[in-house]
Amino acid sequence: MRISVIGCGYLGAVHAACMAELGHDVVGVDVDERKVAELSAGRAPFFEPGLPEVLERATASGRLRFTTDMSEAAGAQVHFVAVGTPQTAGSHAADMTYVDAAVTALLPHLADGDLVVGKSTVPVGTAARLAERVRASSSGADLAWNPEFLREGFAVKDTVSPDRFVYGVPAGAGGERATALLDEVYATALATGTPRLVMDYATAELVKVSANAFLATKISFINAMAEIAEATGADVTQLADAIGHDARIGRKFLNAGLGFGGGCLPKDIRAFQARADELGLESLAFLADVDAVNLRRRAKVVDLTVELVGEVEGARVAVLGVAFKPDSDDVRDSPALDVARALHDRGASVRVHDPEANETARRVAPELDYVADVDSALRDADVVLVLTEWKQFRQLDPAHVAELVAELRIVDARAVLDLGAWRAAGFEARGLGRP
Ligand code: UGA
Repeated sequence: MRISVIGCGYLGAVHAACMAELGHDVVGVDVDERKVAELSAGRAPFFEPGLPEVLERATASGRLRFTTDMSEAAGAQVHFVAVGTPQTAGSHAADMTYVDAAVTALLPHLADGDLVVGKSTVPVGTAARLAERVRASSSGADLAWNPEFLREGFAVKDTVSPDRFVYGVPAGAGGERATALLDEVYATALATGTPRLVMDYATAELVKVSANAFLATKISFINAMAEIAEATGADVTQLADAIGHDARIGRKFLNAGLGFGGGCLPKDIRAFQARADELGLESLAFLADVDAVNLRRRAKVVDLTVELVGEVEGARVAVLGVAFKPDSDDVRDSPALDVARALHDRGASVRVHDPEANETARRVAPELDYVADVDSALRDADVVLVLTEWKQFRQLDPAHVAELVAELRIVDARAVLDLGAWRAAGFEARGLGRP
């Protein structure tokens, strides 16, 4: 099938490459010339495990190309809209500028029978609004909403073999047509028994934001327990293990620590609250607490660091990890980067190493000192902070670190180190919610 993907960021680039990998003929369209040039050369413009290989194969097969020219979307039967919906400056609502602009630019190129498929995370009500515009464009085209649940770091796997497909479709024959087209797009995964749920637009839009709100709530729940554990001497990791054995609760997303960040969970819970406010509903008021607990963890790590070093002004701080999570170079709303900046702002001399995110972080926080390897970050440090749980940081050897640093102090903000082993090696070692 011929497919266009409008927007080639973290979501769209992966989607375009994976659709080509599945045998479709794909054109990716983006307004960013640099991104299009990189992708056209078969290079991923960001770090995502597995993506370079898929891009290379898909580009070589001739089934995948990228362009800045929207008119090249013409001829595709299915047009995925995968542009960003960032947080509006000054408000918490989703900024719909890019979605609206993408649809506006696409409309003149639609043909009778085409299906526009929204993938972006949007406020409930968007699909119905856009569907009217698509149908009014007189092309006989229609619209479906097909939210995306991929996780960065696992984006290729999540796109090719997701947990489930959700189709938000119009009622009646239009819905049947849209479902049949999407089934054709996803035939490979559907053949392996991947569940596919067909529903109305509003429900499909809500599935996405409620899934993210639930995940954020789960993380903030365990981080709230970490605060209680800190006040009582309990151990939140043991608590998570114990409650996680209850299949109704589950152990996943109960890792207490520095909390959630990235381009999705933080802005999605805020946009969801803003939408509920618009609807005159108090239903999502609790998400303000979810947000607050999450942000308090960042402040807690700054406080712990200050406590350990005494005088923060001039203290040499080794920051290990600035990506919002491992296996990503994404620093959007990164808790780690926030902590690093806060310490810098208080006068500390902050040296940062991230296996992949040094460059992305440097673009937004050039004031920090980025170094190419772990040892350079550790050398002469007064305190070491593990802020993103990259595998190489989990495997740090206390004896080796002790040889490099000036003072034996470490904060494990992601609960990945054996604090006992570090203490046995002479370190003053602190964690979150752990004695
Ligand atoms: C999230 C969702 O997990 C995806 O399903 C969704 O498609 C995506 O947002 C999106 O809306 O596009 P992602 O932002 O890639 O995916 O990252 P997650 O793996 O969800 O992690 C989010 C944050 O939560 C990270 O900062 C991570 O460190 C933190 N986290 C995660 C915890 O602090 N504790 C945990 O137990 C799990």
